[in-house]
Amino acid sequence: MRPATRAVHAGRPPHAADQPLNVPITMASTYVAGGDREYGRYANPSWTAFEDALGELEGGRCLSFASGLAAVATVLDLVGLDQVVVAPRHAYNGSLMQLADLEARGRLRTRLVDIADTAAVVEACADAALLWIESPTNPAMEVADIAVLTEAAHEAGAQVVVDNTFATPVLQQPLDLGADLVLHSATKYLAGHSDLLMGALVTRDDALHDVLKGRRDLVGGIPGAFEAWLALRGLRTLPLRVERAQANAMELVRRLEERVGVKEVRYPGFGAMISIVLADAATADRLTGGTSLWVHATSLGGVESTFERRRRWRSEPTTIPEGLVRMSVGIEDVEDLWEDLDAALPSH
Ligand SMILES: Cc1ncc(COP(=O)(O)O)c(C=O)c1O
Repeated sequence: MRPATRAVHAGRPPHAADQPLNVPITMASTYVAGGDREYGRYANPSWTAFEDALGELEGGRCLSFASGLAAVATVLDLVGLDQVVVAPRHAYNGSLMQLADLEARGRLRTRLVDIADTAAVVEACADAALLWIESPTNPAMEVADIAVLTEAAHEAGAQVVVDNTFATPVLQQPLDLGADLVLHSATKYLAGHSDLLMGALVTRDDALHDVLKGRRDLVGGIPGAFEAWLALRGLRTLPLRVERAQANAMELVRRLEERVGVKEVRYPGFGAMISIVLADAATADRLTGGTSLWVHATSLGGVESTFERRRRWRSEPTTIPEGLVRMSVGIEDVEDLWEDLDAALPSH
């Protein structure tokens, strides 16, 4: 089956008389003893349906979490005391903050790299336990050579996790490129409607799956049943939404590259995330405060177009330009998106 068909059909009850087409929301903290579920921290049928579907799209076994950062914490928890994690200097700032916090408390060591500089990343992996890849990076939009980096990291004895939040399995399947683990903020494109938080990890390695499941059972970073049900409902249209949002993004990139006042357009050539650089913070703030359709908001991957000046967050790396606006292109009509943007961009 192709991805668009998988997205629609995976994680459904069997085609048998009286079965509902969708797995119902199971609100249960506990199950009658003697089966596999037992307790609500270990299992829930609404999670399982979402996990089956995302697992099929990424090509592995999926575990869902309360948020993307709960999934990040679960992976970093596997790193041994004082071991080295190689990570992009422009990864999502929440992931960087977790790494910095663990390093400050003497738990592990972090080596930050330019993830697009393959030779430098390979060199940094020499004594690493984990290579953290995010590609494209949020919000610098750098792209990693996942296959080459994964092979080199494995040779050095490191495991590889890829945060696939921006690309989604529609555009990039890191497990096929050799990665050990795929991570998602399902909050973003997978759920797709800016109405819930959830995270996910996917792997083909059964032993790794069981270790991660064990950590989730113990720590309890589990999603709610309603969130999982909603996320699966969103996932059904993922390929359609990504296709439309990407087409909109490509058209906007073409126009933004020719627009006076836009100093730089950062677009990796795929996906629906764009970063533009304007003259300074004040110019960028005038843009984000001057539109009626584009919503000034953090987060991304919803059906509606949103944008924000990333340096308004004090935790954002200072190597991100003050005037950088990260844009999450939605599925609206591209002409409406352009008219709204064009009117709010600087006139020179
Ligand atoms: C690339 C990336 N990874 C992880 C996360 C964290 O996910 P969550 O907000 O669901 O905890 C985010 C959130 O913005 C993100 O953009």
